[in-house]
Amino acid sequence: MYRISLEGRGDFGEWRDAARACLAAKIPPHDMDWRLRNESAGLFGFEDDSALPAAKGDASVSVPAAFMPLAQAIVCHSDPSRFALLYRLLWRLSDDRTLLQLKADPDVARARNLEKSVRRDSHKMTAFVRFKEVPLPEGIAGRRRFIAWFEPDHFIVERKADFFQRRFTDMDWLIATPKGSARWDGETLETSRIAAEKPDLTDETDELWRTYYANIFNPARLKIKAMTAEMPKKYWKNLPEANLIPELILGAEARVLEMAAKAATEPQLFHHRIQAMAENRPAPALPDADTLEGLKHEARSCTLCPLHCTATQTVFGEGPSRADVMIVGEQPGDQEDLAGRPFVGPAGKVFNEVVSQTGMDRSKFYVTNAVKHFKYEPRGKLRIHKRPDVTEIEHCRWWLTREIDLVQPKLIVAMGATAVFALTGIKGKLSDLRGKPMPMQGDRLLFVTVHPSYLLRIPDEGKKAEEMRLFREDMATVKKMAEQICVNEVRSMRTDSTFIDMSLGIDLARNDG
Ligand code: URA
Repeated sequence: MYRISLEGRGDFGEWRDAARACLAAKIPPHDMDWRLRNESAGLFGFEDDSALPAAKGDASVSVPAAFMPLAQAIVCHSDPSRFALLYRLLWRLSDDRTLLQLKADPDVARARNLEKSVRRDSHKMTAFVRFKEVPLPEGIAGRRRFIAWFEPDHFIVERKADFFQRRFTDMDWLIATPKGSARWDGETLETSRIAAEKPDLTDETDELWRTYYANIFNPARLKIKAMTAEMPKKYWKNLPEANLIPELILGAEARVLEMAAKAATEPQLFHHRIQAMAENRPAPALPDADTLEGLKHEARSCTLCPLHCTATQTVFGEGPSRADVMIVGEQPGDQEDLAGRPFVGPAGKVFNEVVSQTGMDRSKFYVTNAVKHFKYEPRGKLRIHKRPDVTEIEHCRWWLTREIDLVQPKLIVAMGATAVFALTGIKGKLSDLRGKPMPMQGDRLLFVTVHPSYLLRIPDEGKKAEEMRLFREDMATVKKMAEQICVNEVRSMRTDSTFIDMSLGIDLARNDG
């Protein structure tokens, strides 16, 4: 019997080197004893690994491509038997390269289970890490610093570290766990396999998390089983919002009844709706920024919905900090996600073209999206756009309303149904709303048109040309309205006259009910 002892803290190279040597020496799995290093001395009285016999013949090992990702995931599992299982698979693969396709084989089935558990743990880490800001020492200027404590089941910190580096690249952070840590300082990503001590992270920001969570909690959508599957109880102790959950569940029925009673009497006016939505918006984990730059900075670390897990970065709006016209699209696409700027891909090209054909200047607009993270489905090497769902739009509305508060546009152009829903809560047909300016809060107007990517998807050339013409017409109306806004601004400075000039033919009363 040969004994190999390993640190066993998620280092694939450690197991691979040992396994290669054993395979080269032709030691069958039943003659191997794989142990964790800290066990081998204390518990069993073994001091050193037994010397392996010399390699017999060719020491190179060739495995099917599917084995590598499987083995890399499994070495992160905390089950002590994982090394022996992997070695058994490796040994058997040299006789049968199709082994991994035999789903009913007990070794293969066990391996797939371990892999699944590591993947699940990794996913939970991306969803449940909660950063706390650590104040910089007095008198020291620099990047903001954040710390998080997380308790994974497996040794996944190294596996997920580069995800956090990509997502939170513009802040310094440390993620400490009992199974190792990761640290990013803007230049270097460091990981350690040493168990970290739990830092004391209870402070007033927990209260902010709880307020936010209570605000977004929708009792009508409560599904306790699905919720505990998605947010298993073992993670609750490190989630500041979690101690609200039992209370919210208990009060859910009463709140549903209260919501139903309210819905029956609520007036259906846009400006009332958007005001109410803005007032009910969930608070973020950090204090409100009072500049666009500050808001953009905060949005970079937004984790309000799971889309942040797979997107490259938050794509925030861009344009003048005060703009008469705000353009709202749906969500960033593939190219926007990589560039970090809205409307720079194919839909952006259509939009830019039409804007300049109608004689407008895009740089005068504030251009943004209803949802700030790219939602997609991986298909091979491609990332296929997926429409954001209601919950994602509702979470992201917090950012959109803050952008509107700061930019103070006089005219908002909603391109497509998602933008309309984000701005008004209305899910109706776009054609019923299109091309008719509608009042929002105060003197603000909403104008609805199609999304430029809709134009790109029309297969029939004739229909496409016609739809393009209508979109141009809509943008020409936007131009007229924007010019009218300017004229009125000058006029109201002189005479304090009524804000909207009715000569534009905007029938405010018609759309007000
Ligand atoms: N589609 C959008 O709605 N927004 C973008 O930024 C790009 C494509």
